[in-house]
Amino acid sequence: MQNNIFSGLFIGQNLVTLKEVDSTNTFLKNLVSNSKPLPEGTVIMAEDQYAGRGQQQNRWFTEAGKNLSFSILLKPTFLLLNDQFALTQAISLGVAKALSHVTDKGIKIKWPNDIYFNNRKLGGILIENMVQGAQIKHSIIGIGLNINQEQFPDYLPNATSLKQILHKDYDLKALLSEICGHIEACYLQLKAGKASELNQDYLSYLFGLNETRNFRSNGTLFSGTITGVSPLGLLKIKTGQAENEYNLKEVEFLIN
Ligand code: BTN
Repeated sequence: MQNNIFSGLFIGQNLVTLKEVDSTNTFLKNLVSNSKPLPEGTVIMAEDQYAGRGQQQNRWFTEAGKNLSFSILLKPTFLLLNDQFALTQAISLGVAKALSHVTDKGIKIKWPNDIYFNNRKLGGILIENMVQGAQIKHSIIGIGLNINQEQFPDYLPNATSLKQILHKDYDLKALLSEICGHIEACYLQLKAGKASELNQDYLSYLFGLNETRNFRSNGTLFSGTITGVSPLGLLKIKTGQAENEYNLKEVEFLIN
């Protein structure tokens, strides 16, 4: 099904809505590989994903028809591979800004790109880049947000939804349009070379910034203070006088 309720320049102008799919990221990746060139900003949205994928090979579970599961095709050919974290920042910032319009206060980005409300996970982002040489040719931006789901299974004790926070239901397409508009604005900022402004904005949403928190690395528990992120997207944590940088596999942020 194709239609258009999006007021932005290109994200969502080509919207494909599916009743059911394994994963919108996989579907979009196959489209990009197998069909004629797709316009940048194409959005694939699914009412139900039966094999949703999350970060670090995890599965992404969501109740059918209640939440937002979508993927956006971007072509950030202007971005060098070493600068790809700036894209992560632009996307997560766009989502956080859009949701902040809805919830007022409390939306945070948990490094690198989880969307949190207070101490609970409201959604996540899975970015998959198709690379050519030192350039990103295509980027599949997968976003899952818990919107109208009222309850979560025991294996997701940390999850929350807009419904749990604000006690009302949301029109999924209207929300999608709002989120895509904010992502587009941040993406265009990145394209215009304003990565350092985006970085400042990203830090203002960063969960736990300048706070002492508990972490686990290599099986060892420690407490430290998040001081920022490096240009490559590593998390900077200060423990005593030492400041170390960690990638996603090297450190676990212990929330509770
Ligand atoms: C995470 O682990 O936090 C990232 C979750 C990303 C889920 C979204 S839902 C739409 C898109 N399709 C997928 O299979 N995954 C992403």
